[in-house]
Amino acid sequence: MTFDRLETTLRLRGGHRLHGAVRVHGSKNATLPIMAAALLCDGEVIIKHAPRITDVSVMEALLESLGARVRQQGSNTLRIGAENIGQTRAPYTLVRKLNASFDVTGALLGRLGRAEVPLPGGCVLGTRATDLHEQGFRALGAEVRGERGYLVAEAPNGLHGADIAFRFPSVGATKNVMLAAVYARGTTTLRNAAMEPEVVDLANFLMAAGARITGQGSDTISIEGVDRLHSVEYEVIGDRIAAGTLLLAGAITRGTVTVQGTEPAHHDALLSALEECGVTCSVGERWVGVDATGTRSGTDILTAPFPGFPTDLQPMMTAFLATCPGTSVVEETIFNARFAYVNELLRMGGDIRVQMDSNAAVVKGPADLEGAPVEAADIRAGAALVLAGLAARGETEIAGLEFIDRGYERLEEMLTDLGAQVQRSSGIVALAESASSYETTTIPTVG
Ligand code: EPU
Repeated sequence: MTFDRLETTLRLRGGHRLHGAVRVHGSKNATLPIMAAALLCDGEVIIKHAPRITDVSVMEALLESLGARVRQQGSNTLRIGAENIGQTRAPYTLVRKLNASFDVTGALLGRLGRAEVPLPGGCVLGTRATDLHEQGFRALGAEVRGERGYLVAEAPNGLHGADIAFRFPSVGATKNVMLAAVYARGTTTLRNAAMEPEVVDLANFLMAAGARITGQGSDTISIEGVDRLHSVEYEVIGDRIAAGTLLLAGAITRGTVTVQGTEPAHHDALLSALEECGVTCSVGERWVGVDATGTRSGTDILTAPFPGFPTDLQPMMTAFLATCPGTSVVEETIFNARFAYVNELLRMGGDIRVQMDSNAAVVKGPADLEGAPVEAADIRAGAALVLAGLAARGETEIAGLEFIDRGYERLEEMLTDLGAQVQRSSGIVALAESASSYETTTIPTVG
């Protein structure tokens, strides 16, 4: 018996140094909560510089399912009207595709006094707990319970300000509780809040719409409740993780790459780590550059909340370290299962040992990477395989392109502009079932 299906893969021919300048798209992790925040606004919201990626499309569908109007204008502008929302239950079919959709909980609770949103459970990166979100909602006066896989939060008489100290600076909980607190009576203070630039961008968006917030970017954020948020036009920040991916693409090919449209202050941890490896880094007004021709060694990495080294760059950094002389240790402190992609790097010739007990990887280099067929299991795992493919001899074919498209707008085009040989390729995959084995054959149909 055979099952045929159309699959799109990314094909790369490695071994070319990348050179040149490229402009990065808008931030995924800022756009998604800002879209959720549009649910709080009484008037049209125009979001500019939104990346055209599938995560944004899923969020659009989710907002529409809640009764909002969403319209794409050109390729990177969204117009959202949420004047008439009334639906408080988010459909599981959409939420399960996107962890960030949990951000609508705070917005619905704040605007309508009730939210029913499927619990995120786990994902390929590990557990996605919600205790800090729940702690925040309860402190604001909501009744919170789990019901058949949904988190139900209710505050029929409205929310009130509170002093909330998080045990960990969760990005999601900080955003969600901030969204709920915008309409709470009185002042809310979030302590040990996340300081990520995307949290700051959300606060700046809310303020542009009439919210009263101070302290964003520090570990203490204060939100003074208001009665109404109005219509607003807002431009999202550049995507620092996509920018970091492009800089690491330059580094892994020992090239010279400049990324425009990103704030240098968002990249301190990455740039210090690269400099320890012998990469020369330069910065200017909204641009960052790397010259990796003098790369001499690896370095140790510890992921941490901002301004520490971002967990979202950990897989791509590990791919780069695999090509650097010496031993590097990469310790992951944010997610408990973010090394699954390492198995694919091993198939390309990497020398990496994952220590499950310490959630760390010991990377020995320089590896002589060789192209291979590999599969992406999540957005950043896919980006790490792209980088490894750029550095490898011969051809790498990456399946699971749909994960890369969740977070990167035309990644292959940005890389091609820098001189990479990379293209999308669609083919019929025939899964031939025999008594003892499955054989996969790809027949290319499009170049
Ligand atoms: N956590 C708890 N309790 C909570 C909330 C979180 O224990 O109530 C734990 C989580 O289980 C996890 C850790 O804290 O182990 C980090 O969670 P956090 O809430 O900080 O992250 P998030 O909001 O779920 C966002 C980004 C992730 C990024 C992390 C960390 C979005 C849409 N997602 O996730 O981005 O890795 O912050 O910076 O903003 C990606 O873009 O590929 C991605 C995974």
